[in-house]
Amino acid sequence: MNHFTHLGDLSRDDIADLMKIAHLADTDRTWQPLAGRILGLVFMNPSLRTLASFQAGMARLGGSSFVITPGSSWALETREGVVMDGATAEHVREAIPVLASYADAIGVRAFAAGQDLAEDLAEPVMSLVRDISPVPLINMESAMDHPCQALADWKTLDDEGVPAAGGKFVLSWAKHPKALPLAVPAAAVHMAAHRGMDVTVLRPPGFELPEPVMARARAAADASGGSVIETDDREAAMTDAHVIYAKSWGSSMHYGDGEADAALRAGLDDWTVDEPWFKPARPDCIFMHCLPIRRNVVAADAVLDGPRSRVLGQARNRMLAQQAILHRLLA
Ligand code: CP
Repeated sequence: MNHFTHLGDLSRDDIADLMKIAHLADTDRTWQPLAGRILGLVFMNPSLRTLASFQAGMARLGGSSFVITPGSSWALETREGVVMDGATAEHVREAIPVLASYADAIGVRAFAAGQDLAEDLAEPVMSLVRDISPVPLINMESAMDHPCQALADWKTLDDEGVPAAGGKFVLSWAKHPKALPLAVPAAAVHMAAHRGMDVTVLRPPGFELPEPVMARARAAADASGGSVIETDDREAAMTDAHVIYAKSWGSSMHYGDGEADAALRAGLDDWTVDEPWFKPARPDCIFMHCLPIRRNVVAADAVLDGPRSRVLGQARNRMLAQQAILHRLLA
C-alpha cells in the first residue's frame, strides 16, 4: 500500500491485520517503530480529532509531525489551470512537493466545494494531490470520503462485538442547521457494507445518497455477503438494529442550492435521534457518530450521555486506527 485514500483499497484480511497493529499500539506503550520518521499534516479545513489524533499517534510511535492549518500558511489553490489573481497565494502543485520534501508521508484534508455534485464525486483535490505527492498520502477527509474515520469505526464495531454477517447497521440522516458534506455518510455506508453487514440508509425524501455512493456500497456488500437498502421508514429501519450511526448531510436533490436545501430541511424537526427511536431496535443497540455533534439537534442529551453512546470510543479509535495505517505506510 503506497497511499491510504479509500478503505476499499484494503481487503478484509488487510483490515484484520491493521486491527492487530492497532491493538499492539494500544497495549505496548514502549513500541516505537517510527522513530525518526516525520509526518506532514495539511488541513485546508478545520479539525479537532483528526489533527490531534495524528499528532499524538505519530509521537506515541516515536515519530514527529508538523501541521499546516487554515490561516497558518499561504491560502492554497487547488484548481487546475486557474489564473491566481484572487485570494490564493500558493498552488498545491508547489506546496505538496515542498512539504513532502520535509516529510516521509503527508496527510491532506480538503472538503467538498459543495457546488457541483458530479465535480465533488470526482474527488478533484485528493486525486490531484495523490498524483503529485512523491511520498505516501493519507486522506484525512476529502469531498466524498473519510477512510480514517471508517477504519476507526470498523474497529469500534469489532470492539463492541457487533457481528459482521447478520449485523444490522442503520446509517441515519439527522437534523442539522447546515448542509454538511457527504464524506462521512459515504465512508460509513461503504465501511459497513465492506464489513459484510446488512446496511439500511434511513433518510427523509430529498436526502437520498448519490447513486455512485450507493453503487459503491452495494458492490462492497455483494463481495462481502452484506446488503444495502435505503428507506424513509424509521420503524422498519430501526427494527432489530445493532447500530444506529447518525449523521447529517446536504440534500442531494438540491446540491449546491443553499436556499432550497434549507427549505427542505426546515420541516424535519423530528430527526433528532432520541431514546424512543430505539424501541424497535435490539435492546443493546449502540449509537455512533463521528463528532463533532450538535447536542439536542443531531442527538438528544439522553442518547449521548446514556449507555448506548460509543462516540468517545470512536474518537479514541481514530488514533489507534491511524497508528496502524502509519505503521503500514512507514515502518
Ligand atoms: N470526525 C472528525 O473527523 O473529526 P474532526 O473534524 O474534528 O477532525
